[in-house]
Amino acid sequence: PASTTRLDGGDLAVGGVPLTEAAARFGTPAYLLDEAEVRARCRAYRAAFPDADVVYAAKAFLCRAMARWVDEEGLGLDVCSAGELELAVTAGFPPDRIVLHGNAKSPQDLQTALRLGVGRIVIDSASEIARLAAALGPNGRQKVLVRVVPGISAGAHDKVRTGTDDQKFGLSVADGSALHTITRILARPELELVGLHCHLGSQITTVKPFLSAVRRMVGVLARIRDQHGVRLPELDLGGGHGVAYRPGEEALDIAVLGRRVRAALAESCAAAQLPVPRLTVEPGRAVAGPAGVALYRVLAVKVTGEHTFVAVDGGMSDNPRPALYGVRYAPRLVGRATDAPAATATVVGRHCEAGDILAADVRLPQDVRPGDLLAVPVAGAYHLSMASGYNLVGRPPVVAVHDGHARLLVRRESLEDMRARDIGL
Ligand code: LLP
Repeated sequence: PASTTRLDGGDLAVGGVPLTEAAARFGTPAYLLDEAEVRARCRAYRAAFPDADVVYAAKAFLCRAMARWVDEEGLGLDVCSAGELELAVTAGFPPDRIVLHGNAKSPQDLQTALRLGVGRIVIDSASEIARLAAALGPNGRQKVLVRVVPGISAGAHDKVRTGTDDQKFGLSVADGSALHTITRILARPELELVGLHCHLGSQITTVKPFLSAVRRMVGVLARIRDQHGVRLPELDLGGGHGVAYRPGEEALDIAVLGRRVRAALAESCAAAQLPVPRLTVEPGRAVAGPAGVALYRVLAVKVTGEHTFVAVDGGMSDNPRPALYGVRYAPRLVGRATDAPAATATVVGRHCEAGDILAADVRLPQDVRPGDLLAVPVAGAYHLSMASGYNLVGRPPVVAVHDGHARLLVRRESLEDMRARDIGL
């Protein structure tokens, strides 16, 4: 069981560290990351997908300690920039277990990937072939996958649906561009095509779209075999596995997903008379999300005719997800006992716009007041990694909690940090 769920049992500690203590020591806002929970989630994936590669999607959250934990648990890493790649390799992550993604890889992304020797580069468009070949030079050779759009709609929000045709990612099966591009790649000796990739979307909470993806992708593998006599040895099904953000919400069951995806793959390959390719999955959110808690201090409470606004010291600069996708969170008062009945309140941030709402219409004790601490569970993925510099409030720190010990992993962005980048006058 996730130690973060202990928040619901009244034990207001994460990783054995009381949240009040963490707030006093590291200040607020702050992100706490439960190391044991991250590791347990990695292990659950490895158990659900034996004989497969589990690749953590660094975009969900990355720091050097996270890269090390994921490496120690035997996972690979999905990166989509030279920044993510360099940080991971600096932490000692083996480059050959890194996959580089991106629909618009910069020259720096490609050069860094080739210099550090990443295991796989995922080709996202036809125009990338020539660029990658040029970056490789006359004697270079690189293992590549091709990102295929299978034409499947899945995901919690249209901003994170990537399996449907006619969008910026990947090569479509429907319009023939996937097979056409694969033909071109197979003709390039410096590009070693080892398999196909697809990523349906994010925060998917049912198994079915993944089973459809398996069938479609095996169909593409069969067509490649028929046209070229080539049996590609790898199939990367991407990530997108949904988590529960609030009590009572559905999360995707990883053990069930693993069992059914592997069964569907075996069945589809048998029907197509193809060898079963080595499977890869790329979870981000489901590894990091539930292991993180955001801690805020209440700075102001304002009661209007209709609403109680509880304003905290963070907001859309450290968590843009409610504003971007309408995601709903369940913040909790921590650090003091109260008999006050629950009332409806809207938790807002400190930024200069009305849309800076962290949690609309949630239940909080009626006596919530300035100085109180609020904890937002399931804050480990796509919070800090999407944090911005808006209003120059400085990005929060990340603190690892484990066995009752707290350790600063990423320090708070200071006024000096922000000033240091401003070099003109
Ligand atoms: N693989 C690829 C190629 C991806 O593009 C992504 C996520 C993943 C794996 C991992 O997906 P996950 O398992 O974390 O769902 N900012 C949005 C999510 C964007 C996901 C982008 N790609 C959010 O906050 O919900």
